[in-house]
Parts: sequence; C-alpha cells; structure tokens
Amino acid sequence: MTNQTVTELIERSNRLGADKKNTNYAGGNTSAKGTDVDPVTGEEVELVWVKGSGGDLGTLTESGLATLRLDRMRALVNVYPGVEREDEMVAAFDYCLHGKGGAAPSIDTAMHGLVDAAHVDHLHPDAGIAIATAADGEELTAKVFGDKVVWVPWRRPGFQLGLDIAAIKEANPEAVGCILGGHGITAWGDTSEEAEQASLWIIDTAAAYIEANAKPEPFGPALEGYGALPEAERRAKAAALAPTIRGIASADRPMVGHFTDDAAVLDFLSSAEHPRLAALGTSCPDHFLRTKVKPLVLDLPAGATVEESVARLGELAVAYREDYQGYYDRNATPDSPAIRGADPLIVLVPGVGMFSFGKDKQTARVAGEFYLNAINVMRGAEGLSTYAPIDEAEKFRIEYWALEEAKLARMPKLKPLATRIALVTGAAGGIGKATAKRLAAEGACVVIADLDQAKAEAAAAEIGGTDVAIGVAADVSDEDAVQSMVDAAVLAFGGLDLVVNNAGLSLSKSLLETTAADWDLQHAVMAKGSFLVSKAAAKVLIEQGLGGDIVYISSKNSVFAGPNNIAYSATKADQAHQVRLLAAELGEFGIKVNGVNPDGVVQGSGIFASGWGANRAAVYGVEEKDLGKFYAQRTILKREVLPENIANAVFVLCSSDLSHTTGLHVPVDAGVAAAFLR
Ligand SMILES: NC(=O)c1ccc[n+]([C@@H]2O[C@H](COP(=O)([O-])OP(=O)(O)OC[C@H]3O[C@@H](n4cnc5c(N)ncnc54)[C@H](O)[C@@H]3O)[C@@H](O)[C@H]2O)c1
Ligand SMILES: [Zn+2]
Repeated sequence: MTNQTVTELIERSNRLGADKKNTNYAGGNTSAKGTDVDPVTGEEVELVWVKGSGGDLGTLTESGLATLRLDRMRALVNVYPGVEREDEMVAAFDYCLHGKGGAAPSIDTAMHGLVDAAHVDHLHPDAGIAIATAADGEELTAKVFGDKVVWVPWRRPGFQLGLDIAAIKEANPEAVGCILGGHGITAWGDTSEEAEQASLWIIDTAAAYIEANAKPEPFGPALEGYGALPEAERRAKAAALAPTIRGIASADRPMVGHFTDDAAVLDFLSSAEHPRLAALGTSCPDHFLRTKVKPLVLDLPAGATVEESVARLGELAVAYREDYQGYYDRNATPDSPAIRGADPLIVLVPGVGMFSFGKDKQTARVAGEFYLNAINVMRGAEGLSTYAPIDEAEKFRIEYWALEEAKLARMPKLKPLATRIALVTGAAGGIGKATAKRLAAEGACVVIADLDQAKAEAAAAEIGGTDVAIGVAADVSDEDAVQSMVDAAVLAFGGLDLVVNNAGLSLSKSLLETTAADWDLQHAVMAKGSFLVSKAAAKVLIEQGLGGDIVYISSKNSVFAGPNNIAYSATKADQAHQVRLLAAELGEFGIKVNGVNPDGVVQGSGIFASGWGANRAAVYGVEEKDLGKFYAQRTILKREVLPENIANAVFVLCSSDLSHTTGLHVPVDAGVAAAFLR
C-alpha cells in the first residue's frame, strides 16, 4: 500500500508540473518528509521522498522518487568537507538510501533534505526567474514579496546551496520560500497543501507584479523590417532555410531539428533589443544545458532572400564556433571534460521563427521550449529592470561540471539510425509501412507519405507519437505535392537523410489490353514519382551537406520479363536505372543510391489485395489465398517473402555497415534465378 505522504507528493507534483507557468519541462523537483515502517526493525523510520534525477513533475510516479533516511541525510552535515569538495556529497547520498532507494538522487537532494520543512518545492517558473535574473533582483524580491520570500544569491546547485537555504529558512521564520538568484524558486510548507500554496503564491505574485509594473515595450521599439512574415511565406522560407541550418547545427555531430514560429519568438525577433539580449544568453541551468549558452541569431531583416540568408548564416556559423571555442578556452581547467561540440542548438531567424536541435526530436523540441522560457524570463526581467543572467564562468562550471559529464556518460548508447530523418512514400501500408516501422525501430524519425492523409497519420500513430513519426498526404506524381511533402518533413524534423521511393501500384495486363491511361498512370507514380521525390529530396540532402541515402523499391520485374506486365515492368526498369544514374550523379555529395528488388510479397500488400493478386492467381492457375505459398514454391529458398524482409534490406542499405555501397540492387525474392543480376 502506498504511503499517504507519497500519494500526496505525487499528486502535488503532477498538479504543479501540468502547468507550464510553474516550471519548464522536466525542470524542478519536489519532496516530502514522513515516516514509514522499517522492514528490518519493524519500527517507524523518518524518510524523505524526493523527485529523482531526470523525469518530469507533470508525469511523476512513485518510481521517479528517490527515498532516503532522514537521520542519515542530516548526519551528512557532520562530514561535509566544504564547498570546494561539495560534489563528493552526491556519492554520499547513496549511503542514505532507504532500501533500494528508488530513482537516482539528483543534485538538488541536499536542498530538500536539509531544509527544515516537511514539504519542499523547487521550481523554475518564468515569472520567478524573471525576478531572479533582474539586475536588482534582491531589492525587487523585497518589494514584491515583503518578508515572505527571501533572496538567495546565485550559487551552483549542490550541498552548499542546500545549507544556505536551510539557514535562510531558520533565520526567517515568516518566509514561505526564496528566490534563487539567476535560477528559480524554492518554497516550503508544513503540509503538502501549504507547500503547494506557497509555490503558487510566489509564482502568481511575481507574474502579477510583472504584469502591473513592466514597461510597455520590454524588448524595445519595433525594428523596421524585422516583423513576422505572413504565415505561408514564413513557412516557405523556414523550409527553404532548414537544410542549411541543420547542416550548421550538425557540423560536429548530426542533429534532429524542431521549428516553431510561436508569436513570442517572432515578437522577440522583431524588437530592437533582441541582438543584445540574445547575446547575453540564458540563465537558469536547465535552460542553457539544453540551449547552449547563447543562440545563433541571423542579423538580416525578414525580407532577406533565401540566398542572402544562406550566405550570411554560413558566415555566422563560423563566428559562432569561434566564439564558443573562445568561451571553452577561457573557462576550461586542466580537469574539465573535452569540448562537446561548438555548434549552436538554437538558431533564430527574424520574421520566420526558431530552429532548435537535439540528439532526437524530443530533445530538439524541448530545447525550443526552453528558449521560449528564456524569452519569457528576459521579457519579465527587462520589463522591471535589466536582464542580468549569471556570468559565463558560472555557466561553464555547470555545462562542463564533472557531475553533468557523468550524467551524459550514463545515457544509453544511440541506436544505429539515431538522428536520421527518413521519408518513405506509399507507407500507409504494405512494404512501405513495414519499412517505416523498421527505420523508426532503429532510431530514425520517419515521415510517412501516402495518398490519404488519415491513412498516413494512422500508420504514423502505430509507430509512435509525433516526435517519432508523422503522416503527410502526397501524390508523388504531382510536383507541387512532392515539394509540400518534403517541406513538411523538413519543418517537422529539421531536414532529411533517408528517402525510400516505395509508392507504387500495379495493373497486370497484356500489351493489347494495356491502355495509354494504364501506361501513363503507372509511369506517373513510379518512374516520374520517384524522379520527382529524388529531385526534391536531393536538393535538401545537398544543402545539408550530411550525405544521405535514397533507396528505390524497384522489383524483380525490373529485370525479369514476366507475363502480362508491360507497363508495370517497364516503369520498374525505369526506376532501376534511376538508381544507377543517381548513384553516379550524387556520389560527390556523399549520397548513396541503392535499390531493392522484391518479389511475391502477398501478405500486407495493397497491390495484391486490390485485384493484382486475383489476376496473378488466375495467370498462374492457383487460388488467390495460396498465392504467397505458390510464389514461395517457385523460389530457390522456398520461403515466402514478407514486407519485413524488404524493410530489413532497406535498413541494411542505410546502415553504416554498407557505407561504401552505392548503385546496388538487392534482390529480396527468396531466390529467383531468372532475376539474378549480372
Ligand atoms: N508486393 C510485391 O510483391 C512487390 C514486388 C515488387 C515490388 N513491389 C513494389 O513495392 C512497393 C510497395 O508495394 P506494396 O506491395 O507494399 O503495395 P501497397 O499497395 O500495399 O503499397 C503501395 C502504397 O503506395 C501508395 N500509392 C499509390 N500511388 C501513390 C501516389 N501517386 N502517391 C503516393 N502514394 C501512392 C498506395 O496508397 C499504397 O499505400 C511498390 O512500388 C511495388 O511496386 C512490390
Ligand atoms: Zn533548479
């Protein structure tokens, strides 16, 4: 049975975390002290439950809590060696755990354990951080909250900060919490309800004060020419710039991107003070760990052309990397971890919006959310005073903290296709869907394109949420639709790496039965469609400069002269030759182009279900339901070919193991001697 104290803590945490005004995603932590029965002695034991490292308050469950013995936590004060060696106390927390201890204790555990209050919340509310980062934050705290909230000067989170806050609480019995300079807030109460009320009171009071007292244009007057472009223009420019920007953000290691044209971003970029404020960087440790100390800001007006913007972004990227290297060199000590890459994680484009990056879509999206938090913080701080984030030496001490490095080292190994963005056409079912699933399982973000939007979305939803897969409607034979599809992919995930030309349909007819319309339709979808998709996608791949893969799902019929198959087999042969032509042409950009030649994939195939199967069955004189087995018996291996077998071949072609292979066709047909390649 769950302890009542724990139940209340989870409920309070979930309520606080559900509202973005209270804390950023996965930011902050909560705790409760209480008693439970010690299974060893059968006696009551005093415990503290505190949100562990990682995870989000809004979705916190009991397994996300670390459970520590309060007597042992408090005894740590006696062996504390001083602020210079405070990091050693993190290892000491392991000796305070109750039972298996639950989740790993976070760096903020000391603050929760040492403050003499039964319930403690530590949060990163934008309104609170606005006061925490105001140049006169200490005076403002007194003015806004009177003696109910105490100012705590900036200090890197750790054991000493816990001791500081404990002392402040003791010296200020009337206080319900404090503002942590440059960082956030901490509040407390004797009951869970009291702590929650204190947190909300601090946050709401700060927000109301900013609302009532901020100057009218916190970011300065409007900058001529920097206003938001109309939506369609903005999105088109974002899509046109995205490949270049992803290339910039991926110079050291490939990144997935997220784009937002949130009104708050566009407003920030349209105001006179944005270059100065952006250069000051973010302040709350949670923010800059995900956004880097500062963003790259394109210093051109909204009306700048794509060409002008691309050229200038290139120059700014070089300058950004030099600046970041300088920051590292100025602040690193001999025992600092190695530089983790000098590329921006946030790129701001006036009139257009914000691109944010991370090792996967969720990380990229959250980085963007955090920069939005930082914009809100800057607006509040500048509205009341002057924004004064913590200085770069302190930022460096957090970014390259040994404890942060250890946390990164504990991260699970990346999957083979992590950071890669795949687009699979005709992927609402059959071979395409199996391929999209396999690529996603290997770590890729996938865009499922098919004729019907709802079917494409349903297939994407089978794979996961929109951080993993999205569905878009596109007819690959329509050039505009293909461009919109590629734009949608690029806006969803920042760019494109793997393109699978899979869309197709088959009408099995003899020469005399085949109409010109039959011919045109099959050639439009397969030969022309894959040409159009390859063309639009290759532009993105070339602009990114990160190489990539294009895979054609051709067919055994591209080389085998089967019966009653003139239009289909001819267009498959066209696709097969596109593989060789494009492999030769795109190699200089590091783009590999390969093909897969399936045969006899009956299960799951829409082509077979919609008449082709019945037709083939009639041609071969077997029952339709036995067609898969019939095909299997024709093969050398006597195995039925499934959509997953094709998907496996696509994955292998895109994996690093085949990094030196281009222009190849892989038969996945269980062995058909007549279709051997030579
Ligand atoms: N099934 C086989 O045995 C076999 C053998 C060799 C080659 N192939 C090829 O594999 C590919 C996939 O076939 P499948 O068997 O999974 O069939 P399928 O019918 O299940 O899948 C094809 C998908 O392409 C989509 N599509 C059709 N026209 C489109 C257009 N204009 N724009 C966008 N999407 C379009 C369809 O809606 C469908 O979802 C095809 O290119 C096919 O020729 C299949
Ligand atoms: Zn914090």
